Amino acid sequence: MAKRIDRETVQRIIDAADIVEVVSDFVTLKRRGANYIGLCPFHNERTPSFSVSKAKGICKCFSCGKGGSPVNFIMEIEQLTYYEALRYLARKYGIEIQERELTAEEQEAETARESMLAVNEFAMNHFARNLTETQAGRDIGLAYFRERGINDAMIKRFDLGYALDERDDLLRTALEAGYNEKYLIDTGLCSKNDQGRVFDRFRGRVIYPIRSLSGKVVAFGGRILRNDKNLAKYVNSPESIIYSKRAELYGLHQARQAINKKDKCILVEGYMDVISMHQSGIENVVASSGTSLTERQVNLIHRFTENVTVIYDSDAAGIKASLRGIDMLLAEGLNVKVLLLPEGDDPDSFAQSHSSSEVETYISGNETDFIRFKTRILLEGAEGDPIARSRAITEIVRSIAVIPSEIQRTVYVQECSRMLDIDEGVLSAQMVKFMAENARKSREDHQRERERAALDADPDTALITPEQAQPNQQAASTPTRTEQLDDTRFLRNYELQVLKYAVKYGMVLLGDITDDSEFGDGSVIAYVASELAIDDLTFSNSDIADTFAAAKHLADENWAADYAMQRAHAAQATATRRAEGHQKIRENATGGMAEIGRMEKELEERLASMELAEDDEYRSAYIARTLVNDPDDRVRVLATELVAEKYVLSKIHTKYARVETERDRLPELMTRAVYELKDAILTCRARKLRNDIKTLSIQQQPDMAQLRELMEQAIEIDRLKGEFAKALGDRIISPRK
Ligand code: CTP
Ligand code: MN
Repeated sequence: MAKRIDRETVQRIIDAADIVEVVSDFVTLKRRGANYIGLCPFHNERTPSFSVSKAKGICKCFSCGKGGSPVNFIMEIEQLTYYEALRYLARKYGIEIQERELTAEEQEAETARESMLAVNEFAMNHFARNLTETQAGRDIGLAYFRERGINDAMIKRFDLGYALDERDDLLRTALEAGYNEKYLIDTGLCSKNDQGRVFDRFRGRVIYPIRSLSGKVVAFGGRILRNDKNLAKYVNSPESIIYSKRAELYGLHQARQAINKKDKCILVEGYMDVISMHQSGIENVVASSGTSLTERQVNLIHRFTENVTVIYDSDAAGIKASLRGIDMLLAEGLNVKVLLLPEGDDPDSFAQSHSSSEVETYISGNETDFIRFKTRILLEGAEGDPIARSRAITEIVRSIAVIPSEIQRTVYVQECSRMLDIDEGVLSAQMVKFMAENARKSREDHQRERERAALDADPDTALITPEQAQPNQQAASTPTRTEQLDDTRFLRNYELQVLKYAVKYGMVLLGDITDDSEFGDGSVIAYVASELAIDDLTFSNSDIADTFAAAKHLADENWAADYAMQRAHAAQATATRRAEGHQKIRENATGGMAEIGRMEKELEERLASMELAEDDEYRSAYIARTLVNDPDDRVRVLATELVAEKYVLSKIHTKYARVETERDRLPELMTRAVYELKDAILTCRARKLRNDIKTLSIQQQPDMAQLRELMEQAIEIDRLKGEFAKALGDRIISPRK
């Protein structure tokens, strides 16, 4: 369990977090109407179905369904806990959370993830300090970076550091600072040998911290400084619960804005390549860190751009080996270009030996379309060899077959037909065969995926609370578990409908339907609560009950103070507007006092209606805004569903030809939903009574008194249902006041 953040701070974070800003750090968004859209970061897709609503404060993928409030989005995308996500947002918005030095117990109680990230952060700072503040760091580490032409700005930007050539420099410092040995070992910063001695993994190496997309330090690469055949050039952090090599791209955190802005990502191989390119002013560069590209990494790139340029040093063996990896980029729908550097150069040396404009010019002048590049490379040396030639052609067609766009495929087939001097029809036929093969494979993958998902979902357990799940062997009048399950399921939609209005409109005043009775403050929440209380009802679906309870709690505990604050803000806003209005009137009024009087009256009316509309908006958003960020997973998810629901406007054209919105009809819709729920509950009771009557009446000697009692209850229920039907009918035909 993470440390507690007090309610005021939580609310401050929730209020500050703008969903568009939060999502934009991970997804390139384009405006579409009132919303923003982009490629969903949670699943592989080529056409955008991820929608962000600034007004509702939530995002949602209409394809895979993921998304939610800022907190929920961060939890999912960064795989954080609720409180970790709040901390992330607090940092983003510069909201201070009081944090004490950790005591040993607290340290223990922290989640492993958080602790590992914390110790990595500490280590990064320690290595960076070594580099400039120790003699060895300056003489060896810093001298090395200097020799390689890296300036101070880059050392800072990439948090480069130096690990002293000592057995336990980091270990000792970290333990002294209160960090737990366990996490030093779990992160791989230290290891334990067979004798149980713990020592530093990185010794006498320059350090490249590896950050996740959002900037968390998840791992380190440490480079040796002297040439020693017996020692690995790089030592890297091992895989752990915070680091999966396949899921990270070195430099993405520092490059993401440039990638976004230039709408292009340059892919290189090593740490130094990224850093030297940055230093020469080309910042949209990331590295796959020496491994071949993975689907996760490709996906990560696609969140920001469709255009990728892969830079190769001109070593031919390396190129041929990595050609297949590029197909993944094509299959993802990316436009892939390839750039070959001059003989003997890698991106690092090239960037170091040329001015930034030379580098830019070289890139734009030499980057080649990937398929064309691949064709050229594979054909080289295959000229006189028919078998090699045919193998090369097959390879090229295989690449074309993975491209999602039909137009692009067609263009490539035509072009390759020319380059290879082979009939277009032959290439096409071959390509179609590959496509069919790919489709079959992906169908099989999907099938497996679905089967796994079906196994995970078990509707019965999702619907009931532990109390409900307890077997019940009471008298006939208490429902069995199966009956209760049936009822719970039957009532779910009715309960959801009521909850929907409570969440979406929360503190909105219902006016005419609550005038005549005891409805607390007259809000939607108060109305629902009192309607349930009158008949001693509760929601039977536990997630719905909990969500409503959370809403009620907010209304009871927090509303008064928050609303008072809001009123004060509103009064101030009105005063400012009034002053501005008066100023305008003085400037513009040409007539006499009468005109000024009339204008002032109009101004007051305008101010009043503005204030009213803003008040309504505040009341409306109050509950939803907090619930979509609730710590309880079920509450948060359900509230988000209800708010995100694409409400189909029942367009009722009145004689004024005005479209009535759900908000306009709220009092009517609200009452209706409550009555329908009550009616549905009665239906359940009636069903149960009929069963009980049947059970009782087929007994040898039925208890007549009990039977009569049951029948009377049944009649009473029928009567009530009749009343509800009438009330509902009245509601429907009577025009709104
Ligand atoms: N790499 C690694 N372990 C190795 C060698 C390489 O993890 N033993 C990874 C590193 O991420 C490295 C990348 O592969 O950055 C590319 O390797 P290489 O070209 O050998 O290293 P450079 O980054 O070019 O390092 P330098 O220029 O400092 O020699
Ligand atoms: Mn290099």
